[in-house]
Amino acid sequence: MNFPDETISKYSESLSQGETAVLAELNRETYAKVLMPQMLSGGLQGRILAMFSKMIQPARILEIGTFTGYSGICLCEGLKESGKLYTIDINEELEDMVRTFFKKAGLENQIDYRIGNAIDIVPTLNEEFDLVFIDADKNNYLNYYNLIFDRVKKGGYIIADNVLWSGKILDAQEDMDADTKALYDYAHKVKADVRVETLLLPVRDGMMIARKIV
Ligand SMILES: C[S@@+](CC[C@H](N)C(=O)[O-])C[C@H]1O[C@@H](n2cnc3c(N)ncnc32)[C@H](O)[C@@H]1O
Repeated sequence: MNFPDETISKYSESLSQGETAVLAELNRETYAKVLMPQMLSGGLQGRILAMFSKMIQPARILEIGTFTGYSGICLCEGLKESGKLYTIDINEELEDMVRTFFKKAGLENQIDYRIGNAIDIVPTLNEEFDLVFIDADKNNYLNYYNLIFDRVKKGGYIIADNVLWSGKILDAQEDMDADTKALYDYAHKVKADVRVETLLLPVRDGMMIARKIV
């Protein structure tokens, strides 16, 4: 289940800025060559991330879950001139493709792409972030939130993808599988955290935005 439905999504996309040629090529190549291509953010969500980035104008962004690089390229659209995106993925098989597309997008000097387990890599990043995008293994969402929280600037944003999990998030708790339960716990714990204000945006698979207020 995607929100809003397919027809409304297509209509919204048609009246939104289109993908760049590089993003369109990456979208096509991901669907042609990579397993589970639906993990890619895609048109409308990509434009939302790019617009957020342009509104925030971040100096430092952290993305957990690069996949083929689509969302990372979108997030870079609003980076400050000297800004940098750190992006982490555990899947080394996609490295060549990802680096090729970061280069095609002219971003090889603005993106620091790390291969490995984000749980190990995040603590080694000595930066303060304006924007964090969590889009990797669901069972670690809360761990990622806790790991990065002190390194997000006051007024900075933590965005977590897939918090509606195709609507499964509305199942009875005793029927939830482990990933659904992890996403449920993430959303409820973040909502209860008095250090942030939250917005659950019901677009595509749900994005939960937490703005740090302390
Ligand atoms: C949903 S995809 C990311 C999609 C991408 N952000 C986009 O929108 O195009 C999730 C990615 O998280 C990665 N991943 C899963 N567990 C991870 C971990 N422990 N550390 C780093 N990356 C991980 C997977 O290899 C996969 O590429």
